[in-house]
This record gives sequence, structure tokens and C-alpha cells, in this order.
Amino acid sequence: MLIRYKKTLEKIAMGLMSFMPNEKDLKKLQLTMKEYETEESRQLFLWKEDDIIGLLGILFYPDQKTIEIQHISVNPSHRSQGIGKQMVKELKEMYPDKEIIPNKDTAAFIEKCDLC
Ligand SMILES: CC(C)(COP(=O)(O)OP(=O)(O)OC[C@H]1O[C@@H](n2cnc3c(N)ncnc32)[C@H](O)[C@@H]1OP(=O)(O)O)[C@@H](O)C(=O)NCCC(=O)NCCS
Repeated sequence: MLIRYKKTLEKIAMGLMSFMPNEKDLKKLQLTMKEYETEESRQLFLWKEDDIIGLLGILFYPDQKTIEIQHISVNPSHRSQGIGKQMVKELKEMYPDKEIIPNKDTAAFIEKCDLC
């Protein structure tokens, strides 16, 4: 299930975030985490089974209608088991009235999730 990020989960969230190709630089990664912690238009979710094994970061557009998926990652030991697609599906169920779109960093995977 998707759970909301909180500060006590910072280390695990940073580890998952660092799998994004555009978050390899530590300074950039720290800035990204700070944006999720401080900006109301951004929300970070984590995917919890027995452990926390996935991350999904979104941006709410000012138009109130659109959500952009900015970050998505799954622990390498748990990939190709449908978790990435499940995260997108649960997000859509959570926000049924919103249009959910990728950004350039998540498009390759999200476009595969059209049927999620
Ligand atoms: C992308 C990612 C979140 C997918 O998670 P996952 O739990 O393995 O995904 P699922 O099991 O739900 O789906 C697997 C499918 O996604 C595809 N896929 C995996 N990574 C992909 C990528 N970067 N671009 C496009 N497709 C991708 C797999 O080839 C597989 O396709 P298939 O169903 O046709 O076999 C995971 O690979 C990851 O954490 N990657 C590193 C972070 C990253 O690059 N994020 C941005 C992706 S654009």
C-alpha cells in the first residue's frame, strides 16, 4: 500500500530516490527531498509491504485537475513483480478525478502503465 512520507522515513526514502537517474548527485537529491517536505504542491509516497520497497513522488498542478508523477522507483531486489504498476494504479484510485501525467523523467515507465 501507498503510505505518506514522513521525516522518520527519510533515509529509506533517499535510498529509493537515488535510483532515479536524475537524482544521483547528493546535493540535488537533498534539494528534492526538501522540496517534498516543504512544498504543499508536492507529495511523496512510499510503497509498504513487509518493508518499504518503493517510492512515488507527485506534483499537484495549480489547475487542481492534474497530477504529474515526478519520481518513481522500486528497490532493485523487488523489480519486475508489478510493484511500479501497482503504485500508479493505487495513485489513480486515490485521485480518481485527476488527470495523471508523467514528466520527462518518468514518461518511459508511466506510458507503459496506461492500463494500470
Ligand atoms: C521503473 C521502475 C519503478 C519499475 O518498477 P517495477 O516494479 O520493476 O515495474 P513493474 O514490475 O510494475 O513493471 C515492469 C515493466 O516495466 C518496464 N520498465 C522498467 N523500467 C523501465 C523504464 N525505465 N522505462 C520503461 N519501462 C521500464 C519493464 O521492462 C517491465 O515491462 P514488461 O511488463 O513489458 O515486462 C523500476 O525499474 C525502477 O525503480 N527504476 C529505477 C528508477 C527509474 O529509472 N525511474 C524512472 C523510470 S522512467
